[in-house]
Amino acid sequence: SGKHKVAIVGSGSWGTALAKIAAENIASRPDDFESEVRMWVREKQVQGRNLTEVINTTHKNERYLPDIKLPKNLVAVGNLKKVVEGASLIVFVVPHQFLHSVLYEYQTPGVIHPGARAISAIKGVEVNGTDISTFASLIENKLDIPCSALSGANVALEVAREQFCETTIGCPTHDDSLLWHAVFHAKKFQVHAVEDVSGVSLAGALKNVVALAAGFVDGMKLGGNTKAAIIRIGLKEMAEFTAEFFPGSQASTFTNESAGVADLITTCTGGRNAKCAKDFIRSGRKWEEIERDLLKGQKLQGTATAEEVHNFLVSRKRTYGYPLFEQTYKIAFEGAPAEQLFDL
Ligand code: NAD
Ligand code: 13P
Repeated sequence: SGKHKVAIVGSGSWGTALAKIAAENIASRPDDFESEVRMWVREKQVQGRNLTEVINTTHKNERYLPDIKLPKNLVAVGNLKKVVEGASLIVFVVPHQFLHSVLYEYQTPGVIHPGARAISAIKGVEVNGTDISTFASLIENKLDIPCSALSGANVALEVAREQFCETTIGCPTHDDSLLWHAVFHAKKFQVHAVEDVSGVSLAGALKNVVALAAGFVDGMKLGGNTKAAIIRIGLKEMAEFTAEFFPGSQASTFTNESAGVADLITTCTGGRNAKCAKDFIRSGRKWEEIERDLLKGQKLQGTATAEEVHNFLVSRKRTYGYPLFEQTYKIAFEGAPAEQLFDL
């Protein structure tokens, strides 16, 4: 038909919030987009019914984004391959630990439309020994389609409630930025494009490590001065890490864009990583137990990223360059006392 068809792969709290925005935008542009937006939902029983059926009849994701009305042109689909059938624009938004299994299914020839484009809204990095890469480049390499990155100060529930905010899209070409801007830009969700896929991706991944440190500060019952210090040092390490290992990226993504400083602020005050890290210090429980108890099926991203970044820095013999990341890792995984956060 020549019209774009959008698919959302993932339907947790962020996947559902992004799907809502895309489906609402698309409904008002019938000349450019096919109105149905499919969203992949990992089937689950909710009050004795399939989650896909619940979403498609109540137009709410009762499991991950309750009380938010979803547009009727957003359709939940339980089959991973069916969701991308004929799709020209594919949004990846599963928690980062599940991306590999999704891409495995999509590598079967004929599943992904050859002219398709992708965008990743996943916050995390891919580490393999001494190699590190973004999920955008992983998607690009595995599926042979261009992939952009979307990241910003975007706590899902606040976005879904249509509270004003901004986001950043990092795109490989100007054409990609025009398309993704058309899919996501809204009055209450201002999209700003930069030509920096790796900077946007790394900002989103590394802020989750700093969020753990910020949660440790809360756990120790320290105040705003300490939190601000951790945010400043964290932002500096995030930008330096990205400049060192992703040389084509732009420092301005960290200082000027929502994906940088703004996401760090919201995540260190209202995010799930910070909330769980506070509990880790107060309760002394294990991460898995805290995640289960406080997030109720939603996923913690910062602990895995802290571990992956640590392993990568060890393999490159560069741990001493990133003391805040390192102390955060030691407190989270090696039983170091919380006070060690300030041995920087
Ligand atoms: P979530 O934390 O709400 O996790 C729930 C999702 O994980 C559900 O869709 C569930 O079906 C899925 N899931 C659970 N087990 C699975 C499995 N074995 N295989 C595949 N899927 C499984 O998810 P989210 O908040 O949408 O997070 C997705 C990404 O978006 C993350 O990388 C996160 O950092 C990022 N993000 C989240 C927010 C937010 O506020 N929630 C904001 C910005 C970015
Ligand atoms: P949490 O995963 O810590 O809740 O952060 C959400 C987020 O990425 C806000 O932009």
